[in-house]
Amino acid sequence: TITNAKQMIQNAREQQYAISAFNTNNLEWTQAILRVAKVRQAPTLMAISMGAVKYMGGFKVVAELVRNLDEAMEVDVPIAIHLDHGTYEGAKAAIAAGFTSVMFDGSDLPLDENLKKTAEIVDLAKQADVSVEAEVGSIGGEEDGVVGDGEIAPIADAIQMAETGIDFLAAGIGNIHGQYPANWNGLHLDHLAELSAAVSNAVNKPMPIVLHGGSGIPDDQIKQAIQLGVAKVNVNTEAQLAFHQGIRDYVLSNQDLEGKNYDPRKFLKPGFSAIEKALNERIDVFNSADQA
Ligand code: G3H
Ligand code: ZN
Repeated sequence: TITNAKQMIQNAREQQYAISAFNTNNLEWTQAILRVAKVRQAPTLMAISMGAVKYMGGFKVVAELVRNLDEAMEVDVPIAIHLDHGTYEGAKAAIAAGFTSVMFDGSDLPLDENLKKTAEIVDLAKQADVSVEAEVGSIGGEEDGVVGDGEIAPIADAIQMAETGIDFLAAGIGNIHGQYPANWNGLHLDHLAELSAAVSNAVNKPMPIVLHGGSGIPDDQIKQAIQLGVAKVNVNTEAQLAFHQGIRDYVLSNQDLEGKNYDPRKFLKPGFSAIEKALNERIDVFNSADQA
């Protein structure tokens, strides 16, 4: 069932589990995410980055693909069609194309411009019953063209951003897009606790916090972050690595592939099976199964 992400993430925030936002890259990836969400009865955001929207053929193609698959696969759990790290124009186009949730990522702008543009997207989104995510501080690393220097979100900025009327807030707390360096010194959990309490007080409700860069963070830190207010965790790299490993293992263990299993629906299957395994493991850690 296609919905916006407001209720599923508010429920998660109040009951201290986290909703997965899994990035998709194509048809089979989208099917894998929907299949796992349905089997596990886990409300889920189907996340599509600006680069993936371009790769897959545009906002309308993506929105209609997800809606049609949701119907054809009889997915009986809430699924939000979510623009990940949207530009200002991208967020507007996504809302017009039928996305049910958008992130406006203005974290590279001066704060007052980020706030102003976010408020404009909030206004547009409210008219279309679309949920909105914004970002303060920045997520470290680089992914799909999104580069951040990992600035820890200042609490005063987070309060001002929460007051724009967004539904959930991405905050830089030491998290990084892509693979984590060996010398990474962990999430700033004390800062998360303080930021989460401050923004919830500011808006008089438990404000869901979003953890970007979910791939590669130790499970115990993710569980602690969920106890401290994280209610949405974004995962992309982990699924991409699983797909890549699944195909490589298949090729390595089937040396004489020449002229065999050349049908892409067979050849690529080990990759998509590996994705499903990875997504299930994330749902176990986030505790979002059977929450439909
Ligand atoms: O917006 C996408 C997520 O933050 C994905 O991060 O690839 O490190 O899991 P990740
Ligand atoms: Zn991200």
